[in-house]
Amino acid sequence: MNLTLKVWRQEDADSVGRFETYEARDVLPDMSFLEMLDVVNEGLIERGAEPIAFDSDCREGICGMCSLVINGIAHGGHRGTATCQLHMRHFKDGEIITIEPWRAKAFPLIKDLVVNRSAFDRIIQSGGFVSVKTGGTPDGNAIPVPKTDADLAMDAAACIGCGACVAACKNASAMLFVAAKVSHLNLLPQGKAEKDRRALNMVNQMDAEGFGSCTVTGSCEAVCPKEISLSFIAKMNRDYGIAVLKGK
Ligand code: SF4
Ligand code: FES
Repeated sequence: MNLTLKVWRQEDADSVGRFETYEARDVLPDMSFLEMLDVVNEGLIERGAEPIAFDSDCREGICGMCSLVINGIAHGGHRGTATCQLHMRHFKDGEIITIEPWRAKAFPLIKDLVVNRSAFDRIIQSGGFVSVKTGGTPDGNAIPVPKTDADLAMDAAACIGCGACVAACKNASAMLFVAAKVSHLNLLPQGKAEKDRRALNMVNQMDAEGFGSCTVTGSCEAVCPKEISLSFIAKMNRDYGIAVLKGK
């Protein structure tokens, strides 16, 4: 396939960005989207031009580093698929593809398609931990966890912190991410000790970082590569409300 790419290029957060057009030639259907960009970058480097900056790490949907808005949709619009898992067989010969970075005030642009997502790290630091007594290794199954709670906690823990939910939301809300992180610990007995503090601190940090409010449009759930359910937002709102009422 031969494709035309319209790629957002921007030197840094203070520069004015613009779309630049590149031709991607002889693209194989089995290439991943990021491999296709690698080939385009090799061509740019050979010509002495600046390669396109974009984030990636594991390239198998685990780490949450890849972050492209492809044809207007975060991660490209294939259900349960991160950009690094997207393959070129989903595109047609001759297609024009636009590629943009996540756009949100709380994710300032670093260069081209790379944004700074350390706001997510600060939200995790504010409450995404459990306090445990040190000592000998506890017996397996010493703390019984109901199967339904364990399954729900695992569903929430699947969040890879990519930020697509923020990029897709018209309010740039981080509620789906925060709800997943709050829920996966609040649902388990080990996380109950800080349950109220966790909900308050993580929501307050989310607001302090400049993320918008949730108006339950569901665009976050639609683009989430881990298919985190909107129901976790309802669960977090309940945890947060209870913590506020308790005055914790
Ligand atoms: S909730 Fe989904 S879209 Fe949002 S950060 Fe987690 S994995 Fe990414
Ligand atoms: S590069 Fe790790 S999830 Fe995409």
